[in-house]
Amino acid sequence: MEIVITPDPAAASRQAAAYLAALVRRNPGAVLGLATGSTPVALYRELIRLHREEQLSFSRCTTFNLDEYAGLAPGHPGSYRRFMDEHLFASIDIPASRIHIPDGLAADIPAHCAAYEQAIAGAGGIDAQILGLGSDGHIGFNEPTSSLASRTRIKTLTERTRADNARHFSSAQSVPQHVITMGIGTIMEARAIVLLAFGEKKAATVAAMVEGPVTALVPASVLQMHPVVKVMLDEPAASQLRRREYYRHVFDHKPAWQQW
Ligand code: F6R
Repeated sequence: MEIVITPDPAAASRQAAAYLAALVRRNPGAVLGLATGSTPVALYRELIRLHREEQLSFSRCTTFNLDEYAGLAPGHPGSYRRFMDEHLFASIDIPASRIHIPDGLAADIPAHCAAYEQAIAGAGGIDAQILGLGSDGHIGFNEPTSSLASRTRIKTLTERTRADNARHFSSAQSVPQHVITMGIGTIMEARAIVLLAFGEKKAATVAAMVEGPVTALVPASVLQMHPVVKVMLDEPAASQLRRREYYRHVFDHKPAWQQW
């Protein structure tokens, strides 16, 4: 894991966007794994800026989102499809046919999940996966005790996650109980992973993910087993890392030839 401690979320988001932009310029047909939630919003804003001002084109990219609420139509204000349209897709040049988000209204959820896995494999796998971090340690919506080998499937949200996400709904009770999410095994197959986490609220979970044991109780800790992971933090999110001075030292002394 490479731990990158940045002054603030804006700096982390710019760096993450620069990484994705370099990937897309190198490989215009890149396959991007995308996340929703508050964390990547500034990253998406920066990608939109790069598209408008610096000719970054997504016209040949393919995207796969991590998750969607079961039971929500794509147009529902709380749906992740709607979120992605608002925060990214409507403002860049990606063709609709290249966008993939689990269908919250799928009639046969196991078949839909299997087809989602097949679509990822058919696209050649995910080149770079963006992740946020749940306050309970989830990635995607793989809640604590999820199998570390899991594939795309239906999951039941914890009450903590429902409470965390209530701000996107009219009331806490209207947050759906179930989601369709890429599995941890699916996420681990991405060739590179960029996880963003900001704010003091995430500090204990960040420390458990980076410096604690690999355990299904903290699903994000499995990223310790992935060879290419960047963890982009602001200072408050990094505040409980015991070795944070070492991570700064490593980053500051990174060989000039070493790419992201
Ligand atoms: C979103 C997702 C979740 C969020 C996590 C953090 O697609 O899969 O894992 O990344 O819940 O959410 P925020 O960014 O709102 O704190």
